[in-house]
Amino acid sequence: MASSEVTEIHLKDYAAYPYDVENVTLEFDLEEEFTVVTATSVMRAKPSSIGAPLVLDGRQSFMELLAIYIDDKPVPSRLCAFNPNAEDTRLVVDSAALPADGAKFTLGVVTKFKPQDNLELSGLYKSSGNFCTQCEAEGFRLITYYPDRPDVMSVFTTKIRADKTKYPVLLSNGNLVGSCDLAGGRHMAVWVDPWRKPCYLFALVAGDLAVVESAFTTCTGKTVDLRIYAEQKNISRCDFAMESLKRAMKWDEERFGLEYDLDLFNIVAVDDFNMGAMENKSLNLFNSRLVLATADSATDAAFARIEGVIGHEYFHNWTGNRVTCRDWFQLSLKEGLTVFRDQEFSSDMGSRSVKRIGDVRYLRDAQFAEDASPMAHPVRPASYMKIDNFYTLTVYEKGAEVIRMYHTLLGEEGFRKGTDLYFERHDGQAVTTDDFFQAMSDANPGCDIGKLKNWYSQAGTPTVTCERVYDAGAKTYSLTLTQVLPKTPDTGGDQPKVAQLIPVKVGLVDAKTGKDMDVSGNVSVTSAGSTSTCVPVPGDAGSVVLRLNDMSATFTFAGVESEPVPSVLRGFSAPVKLAVTPALTADELLFQLAHDSDPFNRWEAAQKMAREIMCRAIRSTWHEGKTELASDDDAAEAIVADTAWGKFVDACKGIFRDAASDVVDRAWVEEALSFPGVGSLVQELKPVDPLAVHKVVKQFSKRFALACSDEIEACYATCKAEAAASGEYLVDETQTARRSLMGYCMALMGAAGHGGEDASELAAAAKTARNMTETVAALGALNRHPTAKSARDAAFDAFKQKWRDDNNVICTYLSLVAGNSGYGASPLTEVKATMADESMYSHKIPNKFYSLIGGFARGNTPGFHAADGSGYVFLADCLLAMDKTNAIAASRLAKPFTEWRLYDAPRQALMKGEMHRILKAEPSPNMFEIMTKSLA
Ligand code: TRP
Ligand code: ZN
Repeated sequence: MASSEVTEIHLKDYAAYPYDVENVTLEFDLEEEFTVVTATSVMRAKPSSIGAPLVLDGRQSFMELLAIYIDDKPVPSRLCAFNPNAEDTRLVVDSAALPADGAKFTLGVVTKFKPQDNLELSGLYKSSGNFCTQCEAEGFRLITYYPDRPDVMSVFTTKIRADKTKYPVLLSNGNLVGSCDLAGGRHMAVWVDPWRKPCYLFALVAGDLAVVESAFTTCTGKTVDLRIYAEQKNISRCDFAMESLKRAMKWDEERFGLEYDLDLFNIVAVDDFNMGAMENKSLNLFNSRLVLATADSATDAAFARIEGVIGHEYFHNWTGNRVTCRDWFQLSLKEGLTVFRDQEFSSDMGSRSVKRIGDVRYLRDAQFAEDASPMAHPVRPASYMKIDNFYTLTVYEKGAEVIRMYHTLLGEEGFRKGTDLYFERHDGQAVTTDDFFQAMSDANPGCDIGKLKNWYSQAGTPTVTCERVYDAGAKTYSLTLTQVLPKTPDTGGDQPKVAQLIPVKVGLVDAKTGKDMDVSGNVSVTSAGSTSTCVPVPGDAGSVVLRLNDMSATFTFAGVESEPVPSVLRGFSAPVKLAVTPALTADELLFQLAHDSDPFNRWEAAQKMAREIMCRAIRSTWHEGKTELASDDDAAEAIVADTAWGKFVDACKGIFRDAASDVVDRAWVEEALSFPGVGSLVQELKPVDPLAVHKVVKQFSKRFALACSDEIEACYATCKAEAAASGEYLVDETQTARRSLMGYCMALMGAAGHGGEDASELAAAAKTARNMTETVAALGALNRHPTAKSARDAAFDAFKQKWRDDNNVICTYLSLVAGNSGYGASPLTEVKATMADESMYSHKIPNKFYSLIGGFARGNTPGFHAADGSGYVFLADCLLAMDKTNAIAASRLAKPFTEWRLYDAPRQALMKGEMHRILKAEPSPNMFEIMTKSLA
């Protein structure tokens, strides 16, 4: 297939499927050489489309069609044609083969293929010797010929036949209704899923797996059996996932009133998986790195991710499965909503403000960059070539922000009324983001949220400018908000965009007392379209939500006795870039850092100060066309000579002292003092030499670490002593906050070259670490240490030897190697050497590919952006190699290339050169789409 045949699919062309599928029975004969699948579907033409051809999706190049029947009669070949459509062939059955009167008929399809050769990890494949499936988005067409689209829903029965010794466990969706032994050492299991579902939620697992079992009693008293399956060697690491699952089930009942709907819920952990996890009905499949965790093998960050993803997949049971998507353009209907739900779950389980800060950091660093790139697309894309390429940060993270805006605008109660109505109306249906909007809107009749809809159809990150004016005579304070919507490729660049409803949560902080002024009930609004309004925040007289519903509006607060410090966009109430004019001064930011009642904006104040100092230092040491980098000393000098530096450092010292004495949330401190990195600064300074940015970022943390070294060491010592005195390892807020602060101190000690050449304290910490969180903190610190190469290599080697047989922990090692930019001849050398070691690395395992190659391209600025282009050549080579067997995984890692516009002209040329090289190599349709769109 030539890539040029890849066609674009458009939302506007949506047409319902002409047939209903009443039920389908899938029989799998799993053998070592081949699998044979017999699919029997009971179908009927929709009354309005009798006589329409029956179009089935299937990949002809992957599977052999052994037979096709209608009502037990073979379909003659003249009535049955393969219709090539890029790689996914269609099988078109002429209506002459179907009942002319629109009566019910049975379609039988027999296919044969080799799962063991399927390296795409889509459809039916093998992982660690076990059979498993991944059908979202379009994997079912690698199993049989069937309408592989989410709006075709049916009741599935699955019969699995396989060797009993090799595959004692046979699983599918729904309930196990029967099982028996067969001749020849084989056995069979029969599963029936009573809930209608699209085929992307179908799943099958057959293998030799161990299991942990537990149970959950639902709010109506029903018992649900819970099982987590994993390889025997990993089974002792599933307990945390099981507890997370129970917490998620309980939370969904309490917060959303949603109860589980079957007697059984299964999770299976597999090592070879393209994504995080998959919400197949009652049989969730997980990348094993998102299930397996014990204190010695997983970091606190991994525990948190596991809890979040277990929740995410479980929550899909209602938002995704019971109510599903009409078509893949609606992906955010389930993903944005489910991400919002998992974010809220994690917030309710731990620190809400720290969770919010982490989510926003990710959104801004990664999604904002995507939204500014040639791959920018709306939350509901209007077209695509390969849907796999649209499992993006925009659909997931920005999509979740849109849901969060509903929540901010409607309040918890109104939001819940909306979701209740949504489930009541659409249970069992395949619907659109418009249907979701309508339910939310209809459930809240007094509240006009119409322009929220525009967030779904317009790409790009809006900028909100906020002009602040204090009138001392009239004692009024006014904020004029204006939205600026950027040009993006989806609108052809020039089409004007329409106003989006933007909720801006605001407080006014009294400059004398540091307390929030009472802003409830004294705001008047004037705007051009005069549809903007101001609404109170229940239970918080110090905040209001300004609902910017026009391009511009002025909100005037009356009775303001003295000029306040404005706290705008509290909690990051909308996914926008905020520009306050006149900008907050350094003193105002320091005031905000000390006093704002909103922990998000306190964090933001520290970020802003650090960002501004770094940006000024970069601008003073680099300009377009300058090829020579500033020396380390010059970069450091530009930082410490900044007028804000001294005040900033003093404020941070205070934060360290508070953290040591544990009077503030230590996890918040860790976030507040983790300053913007290269990726985030590059977005602000584009186009820019990334090495010039990296230089300043590195010097900033070194100088900061040196300036605060007493405080940092004291803080470290306190945390260490507390940790030694504490008993059992717990993943609770107190302990995880302490470990994250401790790890942060170690990172800074590394940056400052603590302990000289043998980095004694950090090297010792690596040896005596009592859990994976401490181990990774020590290795990370040694990785940044400027002079401790031999201590670092020794610690890395010990780690590698200890964990070499553990694919998941080794991924942690691979990421650390990938991020090493300080040691060795060039950053790429160690990466290449690691890659060449077959016991450590293989392109066949996506986790390893993401950790090593992805870690290098995303996290190793000097290596990836080396001026000679060697990093780009390396990535392109890896993408081409991976693309041959697994286009989905390869395309996910193509992202760094799509952001070429961020960098200076010589790098842009080098990156584009590599993209053209990839295109010339006739890549997969997935890769073709990303490269052509990025170069357009
Ligand atoms: N629906 C999955 C989620 O929870 C996403 C997913 C899992 C996926 N595996 C996939 C998407 C493979 C595409 C291909 O977010
Ligand atoms: Zn999801």
